[in-house]
Amino acid sequence: MAEKKRRIVVTSALPYANGDIHLGHLVEYLQTDFWVRYQKLRGNECVYVCADDTHGTPVMIRARKEGVTPEDLIARMHAIHLKDFTDFQVGFDNYYSTNSPENRDFSERFYAAMEKSGGVAKRTSPQLYCEKCGMFLPDRFVKGVCPKCGAEGQYGDSCDRCGSTYAAEELGSPRCTTCGGTPVVRDSEHLYFELEPQHAFLESWIPGHTTSDVSNKLLEWFREPLRGWCISRDAPYFGFEIPGHKDKYFYVWVDAPIGYLASLKNWCESRGEKFEDWWQNPEAERYHFIGKDIIRFHCLFWPGMLNVAGFLQPDKIFVHGFLTVNGEKMSKSKGTFINARTYLDHLPPEALRYYYAAKLGPTTDDMDLNLADFVQRVNSDLVGKITNIASRSAQMLQKRLDGRLASLDGCEEELALLETLRAGGDQVAKLYEERRFNQVVVEVCRLADAANAYFDRKEPWKSVKTDPEAARVSLTAALNAFRILAIYLKPILPAYADRAMKLFGETEWTWNSRLDTLSGLTLGEYEYLASRIDAKQVDAMVAAATVKPADSGEVAHESRASKNKGKPSECAAASGGGQTAFQPQLKAEIAFADFEKLDLRIGVVESCEIVPKSSKLLKFVLDAGPLGRRTIFSGIRMAYPEPEKLVGRQVVFVANLAPRKMSVGVSEGMILFAGEPGECGGVLSPSPSAAGGVPVT
Ligand code: MSP
Ligand code: ZN
Repeated sequence: MAEKKRRIVVTSALPYANGDIHLGHLVEYLQTDFWVRYQKLRGNECVYVCADDTHGTPVMIRARKEGVTPEDLIARMHAIHLKDFTDFQVGFDNYYSTNSPENRDFSERFYAAMEKSGGVAKRTSPQLYCEKCGMFLPDRFVKGVCPKCGAEGQYGDSCDRCGSTYAAEELGSPRCTTCGGTPVVRDSEHLYFELEPQHAFLESWIPGHTTSDVSNKLLEWFREPLRGWCISRDAPYFGFEIPGHKDKYFYVWVDAPIGYLASLKNWCESRGEKFEDWWQNPEAERYHFIGKDIIRFHCLFWPGMLNVAGFLQPDKIFVHGFLTVNGEKMSKSKGTFINARTYLDHLPPEALRYYYAAKLGPTTDDMDLNLADFVQRVNSDLVGKITNIASRSAQMLQKRLDGRLASLDGCEEELALLETLRAGGDQVAKLYEERRFNQVVVEVCRLADAANAYFDRKEPWKSVKTDPEAARVSLTAALNAFRILAIYLKPILPAYADRAMKLFGETEWTWNSRLDTLSGLTLGEYEYLASRIDAKQVDAMVAAATVKPADSGEVAHESRASKNKGKPSECAAASGGGQTAFQPQLKAEIAFADFEKLDLRIGVVESCEIVPKSSKLLKFVLDAGPLGRRTIFSGIRMAYPEPEKLVGRQVVFVANLAPRKMSVGVSEGMILFAGEPGECGGVLSPSPSAAGGVPVT
């Protein structure tokens, strides 16, 4: 297999220096790490760079509060972040900082090119200014009364109650969240990066560079002219001053993505490599892993900036969804907003790596960490199914047979088993490449089943007493089988794989090491590979993460869902009220009497089938108890590729919806579904069984 080596640059989004790394962040850093380690195992030249995102108002304010310089604060956070990542076995090639000379230099070069292209405009706009603090207030540093619905305590960009977006100056009774003072409105001149000149370029670039769900949403903005993006901030600001514009600083989102290049450059220089041979090399590949809240920065502004500055574009932007815990948004009061360190204080990193892999695919669907399922899957699959092959075999071989492997020459059944496992390798490789980590795990478990079935059939624990050499052969085959599985899992479980490698006295595994059959050698000492985890550890972690509502620090850790609502002048890319693609929008409030009109009932799915010629519809027949049978057509087929699996499930449906005649038949109600069809979510099912027809109250 003389494949051509690929040269690949990979990044994860740069975490804010202002906060701790938590399990939500790890959805991103772990999946990037799986992919990078896979590329390296394949022998590709792959470099994984990242950095702390250090600039902006929050760092400045926090440093002030702590009485330290921003530089001291970010140095401390850098060390903490890096330790968290290292302990989770995230293998960055360089973990740098956006507050670096390389980044300043690149940022100035980008800006010069943006100006030169004629793409920078000056505009004056009114903004809230706090005289006590002596600064213009970013949206999240002001609270007041929503101009639309009158709710109190709303941030300067959008209302959590009615979902509307507005400019901070429109808030009623505004207050500075830092000092509590009343801000005034002041005009300030700002620099805007015009995107409309790149309308055609971006419109054609986007579709090939991300998944279709992401690009379709982005392209909705292209029906109208693209709005300019405000790229300056007034002093005081922790960041880079804009050359030629005294007291104006680059908005943090300008120099943050440039930080990818700065980190890469810094890595290149430490290695005697040339930056041009990596980022600027048309033969090389460049990929960004990001969460869905920062799509517009990576798929609009960033390609726009790269384009005018004459840098190569990323080949793909891989977008993932958010983490939920036990099916809900992470919550400090429920103890499910869990920091990386809190996790590590109670549980092994490998358990989370394994579980995340088992749940992650190449989509923007949210990913759920169900804590009970987590314990169960780690114990039953990673420990019970996979690791057990090694621990039982190695320990038996060492205790009873001097730890020496047999030769498998001429052992047909054994060689056939190993062939089966090797044959799965191409599929596993393809799945890794496509970031279908969940399916990698399924495939590895399937192969582990074959190895376990062999072991159980051979009963070496019996033959070791009657025919020790036969037992030696069985144990040798089982250990070789395990070795192949451990190679497949190496990108997900690097430290685990290293321990396994030591058992076999080896020093390096590549993807092709799976083709070797080990025989004759004496095993090294058996080190534990993975141990069972206990629900008690999880409980202790949740208890440690639980914060009483009074001190939950909501300002510092605003939730992901609300974070996206940048006010138009700040970051929305196109006109349309500053509405962004992925933010939740609430419908208008309804009276309780309106709600009461809904007759929600439980139905038991009697049959569920695909409607021919329709890409969306499923035909349900529900047993609705005393109401009889109901036929309902529902456009949720994408969420259920195997609809027959829904048979027997209880679902919640609206029983008094007027029947609707459709081309395929009459639909007699509506099934309740959470999430968007085709994306996350599923039908709502009550959990303790209830009979069909029972009202939902
Ligand atoms: N600093 C910016 C990124 C700049 S990139 C040039 C930022 N930082 S962040 O710390 O808020 O988030 C870093 C990454 O972690 C983002 O891709 C974000 O989507 C991801 N996640 C943060 N919280 C998350 C969850 N709860 N769930 C999944 N991913 C999340 O954004
Ligand atoms: Zn103030």
